[in-house]
Amino acid sequence: MEQKLISQSILSDSEKLIQLVLELKKQRNAVILVHNYQRPEMFRIADYIGDSLGLSIKAAETDADIILFCGVRFMAETAKVLSPKKTVLLPTLDAGCSLADMATVEKLMAIKNKYPDAAVVSYVNTSAEVKAISDICCTSANAVEVVNSLPHKRVIFLPDKNLGKYVQQHTKKEVVLWDGYCFVHDKLDADTLMEFKQKYPDAKVIAHPECKEELLKLSDHVCGTGGMAKFAKSDGSKDFIVVTECGMTDKLRQDVPEKNFLSFCNICPYMKSTTLPLVVKSLVQDIHEIKLPEHIIINARKAIDRMLEISKNAA
Ligand code: 13P
Ligand code: SF4
Repeated sequence: MEQKLISQSILSDSEKLIQLVLELKKQRNAVILVHNYQRPEMFRIADYIGDSLGLSIKAAETDADIILFCGVRFMAETAKVLSPKKTVLLPTLDAGCSLADMATVEKLMAIKNKYPDAAVVSYVNTSAEVKAISDICCTSANAVEVVNSLPHKRVIFLPDKNLGKYVQQHTKKEVVLWDGYCFVHDKLDADTLMEFKQKYPDAKVIAHPECKEELLKLSDHVCGTGGMAKFAKSDGSKDFIVVTECGMTDKLRQDVPEKNFLSFCNICPYMKSTTLPLVVKSLVQDIHEIKLPEHIIINARKAIDRMLEISKNAA
């Protein structure tokens, strides 16, 4: 009984915060973009929920004055690059990405000098500075398509080595890998997945391409977060093992309620650092506003626009 009362009071507090955010959003003509890995309560305040590619497309299209990002910093920077006149807010500076931090301008310049004939393909999980010295961006949803679209015989792919290896297997081009990884995905191990598969032999495995190669080999379908619901809806199976960040199953259970989703996952602390009270504070005090130098915006935009052109009909 006591337990029930406590959870009801927590629920009503978050309900009040949701109503407040919805009110502030109207007052400030703000749009709220939410990544699939966010806490489930953030889905309630969203104008759009999706993967990195879909979020970029929405950020480019909106006519709101403010874009508030419930995701991580590189996503908010992409929104600023695509909508430089708008105020772009990231509620907390804790929402970084250790994978994006593994790609520095200095290291990229050195590799570019070593392979001057290669095109630089930067995963969107990079800073705007890195994008500004890249030829084209990609997301997990379009990485293979982007690499195959290029006239170059050789590409430098950064910063995720697992996604890079996955691309290598789906292209005839030479792919120069970068030694970066997402700790959330990279530490998921194939032996434990094998045990899951033995326990649930009828379940299909859907995995994010940031997972290690040996784990992807055990999967029935490899795709970014935006492709997971599409696969679960179209596939005949009832049960799925979802191999990615833990928040993804919350989203899949909402989108495909008629199917069962088991999580083989880790939590991304960066994605979970955005909370409703921080969103309220952000909308009231304009914190933290993303600011980028003009030359970075101009050059990063070229790399992002090239990707969007290729993926026009994807999201
Ligand atoms: P998606 O583009 O598949 O949503 O992935 C973003 C991300 O950060 C994966 O770790
Ligand atoms: Fe970065 Fe990995 Fe978190 Fe995605 S899941 S935001 S790649 S640390």
